[in-house]
Amino acid sequence: MANDNEWWKKSVVYQIYPMSFQDSNNDGIGDLNGITSRLEYVQKLGADVIWLNPIYKSPNRDNGYDISDYLAIQPEYGTMVDFDKLLEKAHALGLKIMMDLVVNHTSDLHKWFEESRKSKDNPYRDYYIWRDPVDGHAPNNWGSRFDGSAWEFDEQTGQYYLHLYAKEQPDLNWENPKVREEVWNLMRFWLDKGIDGFRMDVINLISKPVGLPDGPVKPGAKFGGTGAVANGHRLAEFLDEMHEKVLSKYDVMTVGEMPGSSPKNAIDYAGLKANKLNMVFQFTHVNVSPNKDKRLGHWNDEAINLVDLKKALSKWEIALDGKGWNSLYWSNHDQARAVSRFATDDPKYRVKAAKMLATTLHMLQGTPYVYEGEEIGMTNAHFTKLLQYEDVQSLNAYQEYVDIEKIVDQETMLKYLANRSRDNARTPMQWDSTVNSGFAKTTPWFTVNDNYPEINVKRNLADPDSVFYYYQKLIELRHNCDLVVYGDYAVLDLEDEEVFTYRRRYNDETLLVINNFTAQDVIRDYGQESGALLISNYDDDKHTRLRAYESKVYLLK
Ligand code: NOJ
Repeated sequence: MANDNEWWKKSVVYQIYPMSFQDSNNDGIGDLNGITSRLEYVQKLGADVIWLNPIYKSPNRDNGYDISDYLAIQPEYGTMVDFDKLLEKAHALGLKIMMDLVVNHTSDLHKWFEESRKSKDNPYRDYYIWRDPVDGHAPNNWGSRFDGSAWEFDEQTGQYYLHLYAKEQPDLNWENPKVREEVWNLMRFWLDKGIDGFRMDVINLISKPVGLPDGPVKPGAKFGGTGAVANGHRLAEFLDEMHEKVLSKYDVMTVGEMPGSSPKNAIDYAGLKANKLNMVFQFTHVNVSPNKDKRLGHWNDEAINLVDLKKALSKWEIALDGKGWNSLYWSNHDQARAVSRFATDDPKYRVKAAKMLATTLHMLQGTPYVYEGEEIGMTNAHFTKLLQYEDVQSLNAYQEYVDIEKIVDQETMLKYLANRSRDNARTPMQWDSTVNSGFAKTTPWFTVNDNYPEINVKRNLADPDSVFYYYQKLIELRHNCDLVVYGDYAVLDLEDEEVFTYRRRYNDETLLVINNFTAQDVIRDYGQESGALLISNYDDDKHTRLRAYESKVYLLK
């Protein structure tokens, strides 16, 4: 049973990508006042917590994940006064605010880095990771997660600095206690304002391995992997220090983004008894069906394999039950749109498919995250030209694999981008069918998806059978049913390639959750005949017959 201070276990989080949510001052860029004006909408959905992607001052090389001042608001987004108003109104509406904490790296325009690069004896030199060249080359073979080398040579002092992401995102040196103090201080600044938690960007990369050894090189690849950086030897210690010095003093929610983590890592760093973080974002389920050519990683245009997806989700549900807590998500600002990737955005089935995915996720054990627009069934952008993309990861990948390494041709890479690019998630929120989807009165910073006259909030709110109201109902179910929150999990027919069925059990009650992931009618009998139907995306129940993308949740006696 949960303690009272574990409110995050019963919560549903709504993620807002500020740049694309709502413009209020006609510059085509979403902003804080725009978010404030839409808080009632989030409240209507029933979410409890809002996660805001970074709103700090940033040159936007990586859309806010390159921060140049942690204590200032990005001018395009507004002012600190606007932020205070947003927080106050959110709290008045019963909504909590979780901020993004990006402290594995800063922007190269942060004053710490500007100082650091000036000279080897600058007091800030050791805030970052500098190394001498080895035989005239980078100090090791690591590749950046945004392609190319993870090291950048700086003429001024003749050394390389480490950047696991873009070269404008130098990694902080967490071995330096002064760096950690800076981080604790900036966390306190926001917590003392009254924010309710942090989503911690790639927090499991902060402790680098001793001696920075070369990483394994995949056949044909140019650089070594940085897998060994994840969950480094001092991570537990750094998180303990963060907990002791900061988090333990506040009743807040924390979720650590942890690429490359196993359930064991999650239990170590965010287990119920770990006294560190509350939960982690893991990647197993969003990384299913990678490209068969390993050099291309997640870039592909293949349909997902349902059995692999079930295995991925089941592994986490089972391993964390009673030991940790899952964060449940299909989409976020780094993933393609869920309905397009995991089901279908064919207009014939889109609404049913979006509801089916929602059911699959929201009936699991963990805290569900809804990414802006997911609740109205927004789809991928289906861009066909490179010019349409904006995201640094997508553009770098194209350059690396098409232009430099020549592993794929242009046409194929464009298909991969259309399927997997983060830009699919970053098109402006579709509020209504007026110009620019009601997002902005002037040309938006990024293309609005063409389908906005059809898929938008206004239409969803006017239709009792919409994706929005279905999400609202699922959230309500969670809020009113301990079985949904705390029940244990078992998957049925794991090898079934068409249907994802699981049951949850709590005290004497059992929930049966059935999801048809295909456009075909199929027959399945799990004994649902005897159950009471709690929610479904069809109006009537055909019992053992499952129609296209049908979802049904039963309470079994
Ligand atoms: C994960 C963030 O979600 C992503 O958007 C960003 O590019 C990287 N971390 C680097 O900060």
